[in-house]
Amino acid sequence: MKKGFVKSLLMCLCLLPGLNSCAAETSKNDKNKNSNTEMTTDGKKLVVFFSHTGENYSVGYIEKGNTHIIADMIADATGADRFEIVPEKGYPEDSYDECIAIAKKELQQHARPAVKGDIAIEDYDVIFVGYPQWWGEPPMCVYTFIEKHDWTGKTVIPFVTHEGSGMGSTDRKIASACKGADVAVGKGLAVEGKIAQENRDSARKSVNRWLERTGFKK
Ligand SMILES: Cc1cc2nc3c(=O)[nH]c(=O)nc-3n(C[C@H](O)[C@H](O)[C@H](O)COP(=O)(O)O)c2cc1C
Repeated sequence: MKKGFVKSLLMCLCLLPGLNSCAAETSKNDKNKNSNTEMTTDGKKLVVFFSHTGENYSVGYIEKGNTHIIADMIADATGADRFEIVPEKGYPEDSYDECIAIAKKELQQHARPAVKGDIAIEDYDVIFVGYPQWWGEPPMCVYTFIEKHDWTGKTVIPFVTHEGSGMGSTDRKIASACKGADVAVGKGLAVEGKIAQENRDSARKSVNRWLERTGFKK
C-alpha cells in the first residue's frame, strides 16, 4: 500500500512541469554557453557513471544497475576507461521506498554525499557522464564528483537511464556543473532503464547508433 503510494507519487512528481520535463527529450536549440556544436571526438576517453543496484522501480531487484549496463556498452564501443561513482553511504538496496526517501531529502537539501575513491579526469579529453533520472536531476552524488574536479577544456557527453522522463533538462544541469567544459547538450543519450535491463541487444543497438551519429564509435 505504502509502496504503491510512493510509486504514484514518483510518477506524479515526474509529470509536474516545474520538477521535470518528462515528455521532452533534450532541446536541439539549447543556447547553453558551454554546449558544443562541434564536439571533439579525439583524445583519451573516460566513462564516469553512478548507478543504483537493488530494488528498482520497474524491473524489481537488479544486480547490475541500468546505467551501469549502458556505461559498459559505451566503454566497450569507444575503448574508454570507466569509473563508477560510489557513495560512501550507499542507498538502500532492499527497500525502494527508503531509497526514494533518502534521495528526496538529498535533493531538497542540495546535499553533496561523500563518494568513495576518485579518478584524475584531468588525464582525459572526452568524458561520458552517466546517471539515472531522479526527478529531473542527476543524483546528488554525481554533483559531489563533478565539483571535485576541474572540467576546463573537457568534452562532456551526458547519458541517462530513466523510466519515462528521458534526458529532461539533466544535460543542462550537467553543463552548469561542469564549468569550463564543452558539454554536448541536446546530443546526449537517453535509454529506458527497462530496455537496458531486459532487452540488451536493443539497448546496445541504440548505444552504437548514437555513438556512430556523434562520431565517437572507434
Ligand atoms: C529516487 C528515484 C527517482 C526517480 N525519478 C525518476 C523520474 O523522475 N523519472 C523517471 O523516468 N525515472 C525515475 N526514476 C527511475 C530511474 O531513473 C530508472 O529506473 C533508472 O534506469 C535507474 O538507473 P540505475 O539502475 O542505473 O540506478 C527514479 C528512480 C529513483 C530511485
